Amino acid sequence: MPRLQDAFMTLTGHAPDGVWSAPGRVNLIGEHTDYNGGLALPIALPHRTRCAASPREDDLLRIHSLQDDSSVEVRIDDVAEGHPAGWTAYVAGVVWALRKDGNAVRGLDVVVDGQVPLGAGLSSSAALECAVAAAASDLFGLGLLDSSDGRRVLAAACQRAENDIAGAPTGGMDQAAAMHCTERHALRLDCLDGTTEQVPFDLTSHDVVLLVTDTRASHALADGQYGARRESCEQAAEILGVETLREVVGRPLDETLALLPDEVLRRRTRHVVTEIARVDEVVSSLREGDLAAVGRTFVASHESLRDDYEVSCTELDLVVDTAMAHGALGSRMTGGGFGGSAISLVPAADVDRVTAAIEDAFAAAHLTPPSSFPVTASAPAHRD
Ligand code: GLA
Repeated sequence: MPRLQDAFMTLTGHAPDGVWSAPGRVNLIGEHTDYNGGLALPIALPHRTRCAASPREDDLLRIHSLQDDSSVEVRIDDVAEGHPAGWTAYVAGVVWALRKDGNAVRGLDVVVDGQVPLGAGLSSSAALECAVAAAASDLFGLGLLDSSDGRRVLAAACQRAENDIAGAPTGGMDQAAAMHCTERHALRLDCLDGTTEQVPFDLTSHDVVLLVTDTRASHALADGQYGARRESCEQAAEILGVETLREVVGRPLDETLALLPDEVLRRRTRHVVTEIARVDEVVSSLREGDLAAVGRTFVASHESLRDDYEVSCTELDLVVDTAMAHGALGSRMTGGGFGGSAISLVPAADVDRVTAAIEDAFAAAHLTPPSSFPVTASAPAHRD
């Protein structure tokens, strides 16, 4: 923390008004469902992005990062799609979105310290957006951190920063996770109406660990693949005569699929519909303490993402196959896919063995060494 305060002092000549932070996330299940009005079940990671900030009298955003030691200055009214470029878009975009909502926000001096691994599919961008949103809410007296409704408004502003300024067509799960997840709970997020429910998620009494493996494979979310999946879903929804694919959940699946003209649309739709159902399966299994069942549903989700949605990759499949072969109860890719991270439910006694087996498998396949670490469900965006 002192490093962050020191850097702020060096940049501005005074101490920050405060420090705010927000977490990265892993999604337990419910992948590629958020932009289909579906369900997701993320937890907040212990890894957080911190931002020290003070308000300014003018409209300037002065943004500095400890990670790349760079500074960017931009006026709020000059923020637009692609400007500023790079990671500062997430910071500037949030202030821009809050102003667009009619909030009286001014310029900020901001120094950022990001501890969420970058490019690992763990939502470092949402952590940054939500830390800045939390700071802006407090510094400009918006009071939006104090209630669920207020946090929903902040999460929506963060998503618009990502969609409209950074140009990434993501759904809203990551920002909702950073704003609403709580310690020792997973968040059942209903992306149709924005409602949330806290589901107890504390594996310690089961002697089980949630292991995240960052494959270090490149995360191509911003390229065409993610957008292409969204478009397929929108196309399928249009053919089926519904707003979102959520609306066909509960209808006989075979009959729904038979209405679609090609195999790709049928596979994409089958993933979304079955994945939404799997979220509530996991919620029930967690409530019953049946982690073996949770694990089986994880694997079904991974297979659906691999075969029907086609967003997995060699590295993610290798983590899942290796973890399962060495005693994991379940394992699956998490996040957008095409690289990034996988999660595995592993008996505590087997964590070292599973971690070593994954490292060995990557070495044998001549892949970049992955990084595995246990995580627990942590706290949402707040003032530190
Ligand atoms: C990325 C996006 C999310 C969500 C997931 C897939 O993390 O940012 O909105 O669509 O992919 O579940």
